[in-house]
Amino acid sequence: MAILITGGCGYIGSHTCLELIRAGYDIAVLDNYCNSKPEVLGRIRELAGRDFPFFPCDIRDEKALRAVFDAVPVQAVIHFAGLKAVGESVRDPLAYYDNNVGGTVTLCRVMQQAGCRCIVFSSSATVYGKDNPSPLREEMPVGRVENPYGRTKYIIETLLQDLCASDPAWSAMLLRYFNPIGAHESGRIGEDPAGIPNNLMPYIAQVAVGRLEQLSVFGNDYNTPDGTGVRDYIHVTDLARGHVAALAYALRHTGAEAVNLGTGKGCSVLELVHTFERVNGIPVQYRIAPRRPGDVDVCYADPAKAARLFGWRAEKTLDDMCRDSWRWQSLNPQGYDA
Ligand code: NAD
Ligand code: WQD
Repeated sequence: MAILITGGCGYIGSHTCLELIRAGYDIAVLDNYCNSKPEVLGRIRELAGRDFPFFPCDIRDEKALRAVFDAVPVQAVIHFAGLKAVGESVRDPLAYYDNNVGGTVTLCRVMQQAGCRCIVFSSSATVYGKDNPSPLREEMPVGRVENPYGRTKYIIETLLQDLCASDPAWSAMLLRYFNPIGAHESGRIGEDPAGIPNNLMPYIAQVAVGRLEQLSVFGNDYNTPDGTGVRDYIHVTDLARGHVAALAYALRHTGAEAVNLGTGKGCSVLELVHTFERVNGIPVQYRIAPRRPGDVDVCYADPAKAARLFGWRAEKTLDDMCRDSWRWQSLNPQGYDA
C-alpha cells in the first residue's frame, strides 16, 4: 500500500515525499504543475535514491483521479494540492473555491469510492483570523478569516470534520502550518515561487542573490518589540517530519483532529533579515514601507498538541532555516529553471 501525495511537486510536498521515503513508506505522487516544475521529481528521486510512481493529474478531474486509485492501492492521502496566494484569491475567488474546495470534494469522493478514508490535510494558521491572541491553540474559535484563500482552508476543515462525523471509519488530520521557510539541507530542493515572491523568506533570498533590488519591510509601527511583524517561522524539513508523525497517528486513529505545526517562537521581520545576514555573511538591502493590508502584528503557535498527540516537535533553529534557504537560493539562483 502507498501513501498518495497530492501536490507532491510543490515546496512542502517535495520535502515531505523525501521524509516519507526515509521513514520507510511507499509513496505515489500526483500534481498538475500549476505551481511547480517536473524537474523537482528527478531531484527527489536522486536524494531518495529510489523511484516512485508519478501521475500528472488535476484533483478536479474525477476520471483521472479514479485511474490513479485504480493503478495504486492507496492507504492514505497527504493532501497538499491547492492554490495559496492570498492576494490572487481576493482578485479571483472562484479559482480558489473551484481548485481548493471543489478539488478536495472530488478527492474525498474518489477516496471514499476506493475505500481509502485517511487524509492528512494542509490547513493554515490563517484559519485563526485576527481576533485570537498568540500563542494560538487548536481549541480557539476559527473561521473569521480575512481572505478567500483562508476561507477555503476553513471550509475544507469543516468539510473533513463533517465527513468524519458522517462515517466513523474516516480519519482526518487538519494540520495548521505556521510560516514554513528553509530548504532541504542538500540545497537540491527548495521553494521556487513563480514571479515576484509574496512571502518574506523567498523575497529576502532573491534580494541576496541579486534577482531583486530591495526588500520592503511592511510596517515598523506594529505592537512588537522592534515594530515589525512577528511570525512563527518553521523549517520545511521539520514541517515535513510533522506530516510523517501525523500520518502515523492518523493510520491508528479515526475522527478529525486539528493540530498546529509551528515552533512556538515568534520572530520579527528585522530579526529574520539580520539573522540571514549574519549566518550567511551577505547583506540584504531593505527599506521600511507601509503596512500590507490584512497583516496582523503577531502570530505564533502553541505547539503542545502535536507533541502530546504524536510526539512531534520542531528541532531546527532560525540559523538553520536561514542557512538552508540561502544554500538553495545560491545554488539555484533561478530556481528549477537553471
Ligand atoms: P506549492 O504551490 O509549492 O505546492 C502546491 C502544489 O499543488 C503545486 O505543485 C501545484 O502545482 C499543485 N496543485 C495545485 N492545484 C492542483 C490541482 N488542482 N491538482 C493537482 N495539483 C495541484 O505550495 P506549498 O507551499 O508547498 O503549500 C502546500 C499546501 O500547504 C497548500 O495547500 C498550501 O495552501 C498549504 N499551506 C502553505 C503554507 C506556506 O506558507 N507555504 C502555509 C500554510 C498552508
Ligand atoms: C511574513 C511577515 C509581512 C513580505 C502568509 C499567508 C498565510 C500562510 C503563510 C498559507 C509579515 C512581512 C512579507 C515582504 C515584509 N500561507 N513581509 N515584506 O503573511 O505571515 O502568511 O504565508 O497558508 O496564510 O498569509 O507570511 O511571508 O507573507 O509575511 O515585510 O516582502 O513578513 O508583513 O509580517 P504571512 P509572509
